[in-house]
Amino acid sequence: MLAGMASPENGGAAGPAPRTPAPGPGPARGAPGPAAPRAPAAPPPLPDASQPRFVSDLDVLIRARYPLIYLVSWEEQRLDAILDETARRHGKALLGWSVTKGLRRLGGARTPSPEGARDPNEALAAVEKLTEPSLVVLKDFHPFLNDPTVVRALRELAHALKSTYTTVILLSPVLQIPTELEKEVTVLDVPMPSARELLDLLKEIAEVVRRGNRAVVDLRKEDAEQLVKAAQGLTLSEAENAFAKAIAADQRLSKDDLHLVLDEKRQVIRKSGLLEYYPTEETLANVGGVENLKTWLARRGGAFSEPARRFGLPEPKGLLLLGVQGCGKSLTAKAIASSWRMPLLRLDMGRIFSGLVGSSEENLRRAIRVAESVAPVVLWVDEIEKGLSGSGSSGQSDGGVTARVFGAMLTWLQEKTAPVFVVATANRIDLLPPELLRKGRFDEIFFIDLPAAAERREILRIHLARRGRDPSGYDLDALARAAEAFSGAELEQAVVAALYDAFAEGRELAPPHVERAIRETVPLATTMREDIERLREWARTRTRAASSVPAEDVPRPPIATRFG
Ligand SMILES: Nc1ncnc2c1ncn2[C@@H]1O[C@H](COP(=O)(O)OP(=O)(O)O)[C@@H](O)[C@H]1O
Ligand SMILES: [Mg+2]
Repeated sequence: MLAGMASPENGGAAGPAPRTPAPGPGPARGAPGPAAPRAPAAPPPLPDASQPRFVSDLDVLIRARYPLIYLVSWEEQRLDAILDETARRHGKALLGWSVTKGLRRLGGARTPSPEGARDPNEALAAVEKLTEPSLVVLKDFHPFLNDPTVVRALRELAHALKSTYTTVILLSPVLQIPTELEKEVTVLDVPMPSARELLDLLKEIAEVVRRGNRAVVDLRKEDAEQLVKAAQGLTLSEAENAFAKAIAADQRLSKDDLHLVLDEKRQVIRKSGLLEYYPTEETLANVGGVENLKTWLARRGGAFSEPARRFGLPEPKGLLLLGVQGCGKSLTAKAIASSWRMPLLRLDMGRIFSGLVGSSEENLRRAIRVAESVAPVVLWVDEIEKGLSGSGSSGQSDGGVTARVFGAMLTWLQEKTAPVFVVATANRIDLLPPELLRKGRFDEIFFIDLPAAAERREILRIHLARRGRDPSGYDLDALARAAEAFSGAELEQAVVAALYDAFAEGRELAPPHVERAIRETVPLATTMREDIERLREWARTRTRAASSVPAEDVPRPPIATRFG
């Protein structure tokens, strides 16, 4: 649930700025003028079970006379309809402003309307003069919030509106609030259309097509449900386009069109630039060692199913995998998705903070929203510390942005209800905020250490077999002993190097090739001995060991690398 991200309940210093006071009268609002008693302008709207939750949140804010509400959404058409309905329910006039059309009456209660005012300052002045209770929607106003005069005017308007029954709604696809307005503006996230809204759309389209006899609609109830499921995460107009495309392709709408709708959704994910569909066929059988982690995963594998819900199991939230580089954290994340048969979405923390795409907080919101829309899904946050190190050194996201983004992420981890299984990985612990490690965020924190001898044996076996070689022809125990302190990645590299050597010699791979490749490798761990020891010490009390066998001491580096 995204609304929670912007709420003050986030708590702690890491929470987002308190730009959204809780609904209801509170000291943050300032006292209303004596001219206007704080009674609702209209009787409370009837609760409607079919209405999305943000609409009832909006109702509450309007009734409590919040002056400025910011709705983040791409979907103007859908919101035009919702706001029209809202204005009617509250008995208010509905006015709209855009830079092209100026201020004009759109609907709502029957009252005459002011016209004109394309200039944002003039428009705000006109809004202040409105005498009737109104909802005023400013569309794509965010570019004008770079102008100090406009910001000031909006702030003054917010104060003036507190003693009226008029509410101003900023409607934009991006969230952009100047600091001066943070305390005046309440942010509401508009969730993507629900399954129900999409089904209504599909029915409407099918009806139109049928009536016009323009195409064949061949959908059973289950087919329609599948199409709707595939369309979740699209806006209403994107979904409409996807369905229209499917009909145009062969004058039929049937369950065969599922892939067209899914393609459309892949597009949306790609365009967001923050998430990436990560097709993978890794399985847990390809991960050597880490028996405790595998057992844990095997126990949770079925927990997203309906029988598990009925049994009373909560849905697994996610895992944090900490540990030595090259020991299979990323590999495990991939293997989880394919062995649980869920799609894998990779979230790039670096891009969240890069500022290339949008504001960091808005980026995270969008990424989470898209991930939730394709749930059940595995959301892989690889090297979660990346964004943190970037912000510390470059200074590009100071001003508490990093803390706020992480706060929002933590709140979401704690409160999320959609079946999004988060697998976060980290190589370095010194950069991680301590809150991330607190209970309730992840189901478990596993420490993946360098593989012990028995595990190295298994990893060698896996990589020989993956390259079509019969592991039984190798003395794996001896090779594993020789590969002391090797990471999984280094073991794999040794097999690959041996293959190169054999190929260059024009011969089939044989044990001596692998032996030599191992002998010629200086494992990174020996040069990072102190770091690894510190990491182990730290992990001992705070994490669970992924491996069921104790790790060996890291040997000192050979003289040549210490002084060479
Ligand atoms: N435990 C393991 N079992 C099998 N292969 C491994 C293991 N650990 C690492 N590897 C190999 O090394 C590669 C890199 O490992 P990776 O998962 O990216 O490490 P990390 O994310 O921990 O830095 C993997 O793709 C895999 O081929
Ligand atoms: Mg990795």
